[in-house]
Amino acid sequence: MKRFLVLLVAISVLLVSTGAVFAQRVDVGIVLPTKDEPRWLQDVARFEEVISKTPYRVEVLFSQGSSAAEKTNVETLIARGAKVIIICAHDAAAAAAAVEMAKLEGVTVISYDRLITGTDAVDYYVTFDSISVGEAMGQYLVDNVTGKGHPLYLYAGALTDNNSFLFFQGAWNILQPKIADGTFVIKNSAQAEAVKDIKELSRDQLAAIIGEVTTDWDMNVAKSKAEAHLTAKTAADKGQVYILAPNDGTSRSIADVFAADPDVTKYFITGQDAEKASVQYIIDGKQSMTVFKDTRVLAADAMNMAIEILEGKTPQTDTTYFNQAIEVPSKQSPVLVVTKDNVKEALIDSGYYDAGEFTGI
Ligand code: BGC
Repeated sequence: MKRFLVLLVAISVLLVSTGAVFAQRVDVGIVLPTKDEPRWLQDVARFEEVISKTPYRVEVLFSQGSSAAEKTNVETLIARGAKVIIICAHDAAAAAAAVEMAKLEGVTVISYDRLITGTDAVDYYVTFDSISVGEAMGQYLVDNVTGKGHPLYLYAGALTDNNSFLFFQGAWNILQPKIADGTFVIKNSAQAEAVKDIKELSRDQLAAIIGEVTTDWDMNVAKSKAEAHLTAKTAADKGQVYILAPNDGTSRSIADVFAADPDVTKYFITGQDAEKASVQYIIDGKQSMTVFKDTRVLAADAMNMAIEILEGKTPQTDTTYFNQAIEVPSKQSPVLVVTKDNVKEALIDSGYYDAGEFTGI
């Protein structure tokens, strides 16, 4: 009995000490920021479709809005032998440490959708054209305005996300001349008001505005900010209003707040991601537009790039993005504006969603 116990302990020690050997090995690791936002669930579903068709071993891990969990995920994937890591960072700057660790282990790093900043440890970036996302939002608001003096409420994404800068910069490219000429009057951002005559904003100027009107990509933050803004304003600041909302989740919560204010007679509001709930809002006339970013394309692009790297080829890129340290070779995809007019064609007829997922389409 004693001998048996000694043997059992010896085997357990051996199993624990060689645990890594038994963990499933992977070729490509994918790290996504959170499961709690429909945007990233769209991506994971599309990744799963692509993964089912590749002979390579792929593992998807979620960081649940934590840079520490993200770093652990990267460590796990390195330990499992990943040669390529596709990572969408929770926090652009904080993720630099995680990818630097991966690079030291010889892993090729692909920044996915969100660019990791301040490091040379990013090999490639696969993204949508995020400046054009913001421009599409700005253009939608401009296309729906006539006359002067219309109230404009600005909202932005998280300050820790490089995309928030690109989206705002794109929107500002289009909105700024119409703010400067008095078509729109900014109602909720002293920082934006202070630079309204400047077309090209510096990163610091953008950061000051984003910091002031950030939603943190959080529907609850967006809701309380919108409520605070409307509470601070009088009926004269309302009426027919224009709202730059940075994505669909925040757009729905901001739209609900504006819709509930009796002094708001009509509102135009932007969004992006074509989340199912926002598609229904668009059908119902509660959200004006969304910018559709076809995650089928992005997931396939990232995975094809990873496979090329595994096979020793050099991936094709079509542009570069500056990440505050280096120009990162990038592959960029176009986006599509979706309104009530083309929602069926863009999202149902294209096979992205089923008509049965919506009512009144
Ligand atoms: C993505 C958006 C998304 C947002 C919040 C951004 O980096 O590009 O599609 O809505 O993060 O998750």
